Amino acid sequence: MLISRRRTLSFLSAGALAACAQRVDVDEPSAAATPAEMEGPFFPPDTNIERDADLTRLAGRTERALGTMIQVRGRVLDRAGQPIAGARVELWQANAAGRYAHPGDSANTQPLDPNFQGYALLQTGADGGFSATTIKPGGYDVPSVGRRTPHLHWKFAAGSAELTTQSYFPGEPENEIDALMRRMGEPAQRLIVRAGAASTEGPGFDWDIVLA
Ligand SMILES: [Fe+2]
Repeated sequence: MLISRRRTLSFLSAGALAACAQRVDVDEPSAAATPAEMEGPFFPPDTNIERDADLTRLAGRTERALGTMIQVRGRVLDRAGQPIAGARVELWQANAAGRYAHPGDSANTQPLDPNFQGYALLQTGADGGFSATTIKPGGYDVPSVGRRTPHLHWKFAAGSAELTTQSYFPGEPENEIDALMRRMGEPAQRLIVRAGAASTEGPGFDWDIVLA
């Protein structure tokens, strides 16, 4: 959401305005930074693995990952709304059954998917954009936390700016009961991606990420 600094300043007293006038460019829009969320325990222990933008295929395998294939498209922006080219983007997630290919998830009774990549390392283009083909992850239960709604995990990095967060799907019934979304409150709504144009392979989702 873009918030005009001019509008913000209108709520300040005349004295405060005078003090700010020397320091603030009142015409520069300022977007709220995308909220951070916990990394969780399932970041891959070794990222020197297959990590291209199609998580539904692994080299040397003919079958694709199980589940509903989706396209996730994002744009990484700075707080002035300008695209950040060359940002580092990492995506990791559970498979369609809600299981991570991670030693820490070995007690999960759901099956691994031998055709699912589970991790991607991407870079934004000149327009700040990136795109990945993946599957919609399943939700899962965490003994100490509660039910997790389907979600994707992300790390973004550009210069000294870093953001670790998670994204959620629109209209997902389990969003209402997800422990982390409830704990975060209203800002979690900004982590829900938008339904966008579908590709030939499945539904598409769009998301703008604002780095502080
Ligand atoms: Fe997770």
